[in-house]
Amino acid sequence: MDFRHQIASAGTLTGVAADALLVVIHGDAAAGTLDPAVAGIVKDAVAHGDFQIKAGRTLYLHRPSGLKAARLVVAAAGNASVKAFKSAVASGLGLLKGGGAKSVAVVLGSDETVTEQHAEALTAAAADATYLYRRTKPSAPEAPTLSKFTLVCGKAEARDVQRGLARGAAVVEGVNLARELANLPGNHCTPTYLGETAKKLGKEHGLKVEVLDRKAIEKLGMGSFLAVAQGSHQEPRFIVARYDGAAKTQAPVVLVGKGITFDTGGISIKPSAEMDEMKYDMGGAASVLGTLRAVAELKPKLNLVGLIPTCENMPSGHAIKPGDVVTSLSGQTIEILNTDAEGRLILCDALTYAERFKPQAVVDIATLTGACVVALGHHNSGLFTADDELADRLQAASRAALDPVWRMPLDEEYDEVLKSNFADMANVGPRAGGAITAAMFLRRFTGKYRWAHVDIAGTAWKSGAAKGATGRPVPLLTHFVLSHAG
Ligand code: BES
Ligand code: MN
Ligand code: ZN
Repeated sequence: MDFRHQIASAGTLTGVAADALLVVIHGDAAAGTLDPAVAGIVKDAVAHGDFQIKAGRTLYLHRPSGLKAARLVVAAAGNASVKAFKSAVASGLGLLKGGGAKSVAVVLGSDETVTEQHAEALTAAAADATYLYRRTKPSAPEAPTLSKFTLVCGKAEARDVQRGLARGAAVVEGVNLARELANLPGNHCTPTYLGETAKKLGKEHGLKVEVLDRKAIEKLGMGSFLAVAQGSHQEPRFIVARYDGAAKTQAPVVLVGKGITFDTGGISIKPSAEMDEMKYDMGGAASVLGTLRAVAELKPKLNLVGLIPTCENMPSGHAIKPGDVVTSLSGQTIEILNTDAEGRLILCDALTYAERFKPQAVVDIATLTGACVVALGHHNSGLFTADDELADRLQAASRAALDPVWRMPLDEEYDEVLKSNFADMANVGPRAGGAITAAMFLRRFTGKYRWAHVDIAGTAWKSGAAKGATGRPVPLLTHFVLSHAG
């Protein structure tokens, strides 16, 4: 994908050379500085009932007279926000993507300023419109023709737009990596494969990557992580990936991603309906690798560490059983009452491992609970932290990246249900408040640094006809990490 900007004022679209011109408008089209040729078309279409300036509406013209571009799409936005701009661009690109246009120039038809955020929103919408999974589907159509995207702006806006396009292009690369890895089936995307992918990413993007095997993980004493891994023939891996962009003395940000390459539930086995979607249970790990990739591309002055515990959760003669008690790396013991609550069992050891980096903040990302999907649906990821400042920073990153999160409670009182008669804690509580008790479990391993947990069970992938990974929350994480640049 190729992203550029072009300087031209909105009033002079006639000369913009692209296969297609995509004009985003809202409010009264006649009021702004819209090119008279386009304004005339819009007014006429509205007058004849063929178009309405309402969110989601689009108008297509082939070889419009008076314009250099062979195609004109007018897309209506609900309001002047960047979010509305992004969905209007998405509608417009949706209309164009099946056709013959290779390049598209996007114009804000109303007279607001073109910002860095508009530029980044364009890259995100473009990536969404053109992503196609084909790794294990040879019959999939060829790459989409749409590949060159230009944002038209004024001279004064060019610097901001350029910066937004550069950041957006990096985020998009990270999102696409995360999507591709998450979409890859469990028999392809094994823990070993994730480790190799991390190594390759390191080589290509200048990251230091270490991949620990079962023996090394045993030596560390990650008894909880290994307990989950023991039911599978697939060997577990613990991935440590570092981006060093600042002095060694600068404390790193640490991201920890859940890397269950397939979650059957183990002996507490899941129902078979939609169990295929549990290949996405490494979405947290994929988002950490995607973020590392985006950050490595942008080279900010900061240090970043990605930690990924990865294994399968399988039932077998070697598998953990309900009631088993294991010893975590922290020394705390855990009674495994439900083998399907495995994410927290692998994350807790990675969270203890994170202490050695003396991090300025640790964020874990996990497809952790069905309860989070019940609470928030598929729009917001769940944000859990007792640290208001960290919450503010993550929420600001979320807004800037158009990658929504919603903060959930984490009161001390929720911890009560994790009490066990046979270990320091149980790995599950009752159904009620399940997303919160999962976070409370993790919290018991995070006393030595500032910490937040992001539950992406509802946002990492889509079900149904459009089944596929979303690449979330790479945009949020990239913005969050970049906010630490010195
Ligand atoms: N990977 C699942 C969480 C999940 C379920 C994500 C459905 C997306 C959709 C996780 O390992 C799990 O199985 N969690 C259990 C926890 C329970 C046993 C306390 C759950 O949510 O049912
Ligand atoms: Mn599970
Ligand atoms: Zn899981």
